[in-house]
Amino acid sequence: MQSSAKRIAIFASGTGSNARNIMAYFSTREDVRVALLVCNKPDAPVLRIAHDFSIPTLIIDRSDVQEGNTPLLHALTHTYAIDFILLAGFLWKIPATLVAQFPKRMVNIHPSLLPLHGGKGMYGMRVHEAVCAAAERESGITIHYVNEHYDEGAVIFQARCPVSPDDSPGEVARKVQELEHRFFPRVIDAVMHGQPVSAEYLPSHQSRPA
Ligand code: GRF
Repeated sequence: MQSSAKRIAIFASGTGSNARNIMAYFSTREDVRVALLVCNKPDAPVLRIAHDFSIPTLIIDRSDVQEGNTPLLHALTHTYAIDFILLAGFLWKIPATLVAQFPKRMVNIHPSLLPLHGGKGMYGMRVHEAVCAAAERESGITIHYVNEHYDEGAVIFQARCPVSPDDSPGEVARKVQELEHRFFPRVIDAVMHGQPVSAEYLPSHQSRPA
């Protein structure tokens, strides 16, 4: 059973709360294994999390994501036999050759309701500040396939949270992170198994899957 497990690589370079959540979610599973953490910051806290879960880590630099470079692609497809890539707080653009190698097998999570507040430079607290500056009445998460443009791949799933005029960006971040932790692993689980992203994951007031 173990040898036929689907193998995930998580790309993350930040705090790693989503990476931790996904590692914990799949840690007792035989059909899915988090097999690699790819990170571009040698001092990122997420590396410690991977070590705690005994997951191998790969530190990359800019040359690894330059179009046409093959060592990262080779490591993913051959050395680690990766089936599925999750971006969870990874800010560099993924080269088209790598995207092409993982069609419908590379997924990102973004902390807003795309297409709102996405694109290059929109990450972390900048997203929530933009939500507050635009006086949005709701925000949420978008889980989407990755293509060669920032935050533009096909949407798989969105979930919403209310934003009140009194909310600070930090408060919006807290609500959004709660959604990320609640839904990201389960949505990935369904996608990896070719199952529809079930409405059972959604409270009745929230958006239905795409
Ligand atoms: C999350 O908000 C995710 O949506 C975005 O990057 C952030 C990563 O947070 N892509 P963490 O490092 O998992 O806490």
